[in-house]
Amino acid sequence: MNREDFAILKEQVHGRNLVYLDNAATSQKPKQVLDAIMEAYTSWNSNIHRGVHHLSQVATMKHEEARQKVAEFIGAQSSDEIIFTKGTTDSINALAFSFGEMLLKEGDEIIVSGLEHHSNIVPWQMLCERKKAVLRHIPLREDLSLDLEAFKGMLNEKTRLVSIAHVSNVLGTIQPVEQIIRMAHEKGIPVCIDGAQSVPHMKIDVQAMDCDFMAFSGHKMYGPTGIGVLYGKREWLEKLPPHEGGGEMINHVRWNGTTFNELPYKFEAGTPNFIGSWALKAAIDYMQSIGLEAIEKHEQELTEYCEKQLKGLADEGMSGLVDIHIYAEGQTKEGVISFNVYNGKQLIHPFDIGTLLDQQGVAVRTGHHCAEPLIDEMKVPGTVRVSFGLYNDKSDVDAFIAALKKALSILI
Ligand code: ALA
Repeated sequence: MNREDFAILKEQVHGRNLVYLDNAATSQKPKQVLDAIMEAYTSWNSNIHRGVHHLSQVATMKHEEARQKVAEFIGAQSSDEIIFTKGTTDSINALAFSFGEMLLKEGDEIIVSGLEHHSNIVPWQMLCERKKAVLRHIPLREDLSLDLEAFKGMLNEKTRLVSIAHVSNVLGTIQPVEQIIRMAHEKGIPVCIDGAQSVPHMKIDVQAMDCDFMAFSGHKMYGPTGIGVLYGKREWLEKLPPHEGGGEMINHVRWNGTTFNELPYKFEAGTPNFIGSWALKAAIDYMQSIGLEAIEKHEQELTEYCEKQLKGLADEGMSGLVDIHIYAEGQTKEGVISFNVYNGKQLIHPFDIGTLLDQQGVAVRTGHHCAEPLIDEMKVPGTVRVSFGLYNDKSDVDAFIAALKKALSILI
């Protein structure tokens, strides 16, 4: 699918053709996105919302066009509900500060889940420490799915917010967010969805989902680094205080106090990343030109194909000696597979496998994937993680399997 648009895929690594399977960490950028950055810097670069001159007007228009594009892309009611941030981590930190300052008091509770990455744990942990509040997490069942019965019992009059990953960055599994949101809303509790690993891979409609907030990053969806989004329902964003002070987020500044700007500018202090927002728009245009349904179908088929090949490898060759353990095996996944290899009862360290794959030009991620509590629960030092983007195809899986076979023949 459209490999030609991604020049980097023609690179050689250690003298071998690059096989890039680390898309959950970051995606590669198509020519169209790189062209948008070049166009911005060569044609209209100028600070936005501040100048009466032509370039500033053009740059302002482009930034707001990008905001409108993001709003339509995720089904928001209005572009006022789209706050540009640096990425998912920045979005969740902004929400934790703003929401926490206003609404959290001693003894209150925030709920996350047992499979969050650090970006959806640490900001809440820091907030709870500041406010003497309590951070709780939904436990996992044996198959690493969320225990919703337990979740039901955790919701109470002290719960102020629930924040949940839509797709696990370690397992690729999709969480039942609609159900979680319904359960929380029945008790009047708002829900934030961490869309870092879902927005790049599936059609999102925040109004149909009914989440109160959603956070995601541009760089995982073929856009540049340093741009991301915090979506919030208007009624929430109107209520919440700004998390940062500076230019642009103000209405008037006087020595005896400051009044704040209207949405969404109240949450965008300082010069925003308007080149990034324009390039993010180009990334969304690019994904839409292929179609989100087609991207999801392609990546799910590739994931299933890869799981089968991995199982085949265990059955085939190493006859009984090697066991390949795929986590959350058989569950529907959004382009991510985590596994470990055992030689008898001995775990082969994921770093060793990752290093030998790299020597053959295959890029995967190994380790705890910035989700240490989940990895601790899985009782392993880490996993090998393969993650797909829209440009990957079966030839990448075949090259990965061949490289893994070779790596294991060295390690065993
Ligand atoms: N959260 C990113 C990952 O899963 C960095 O690799």
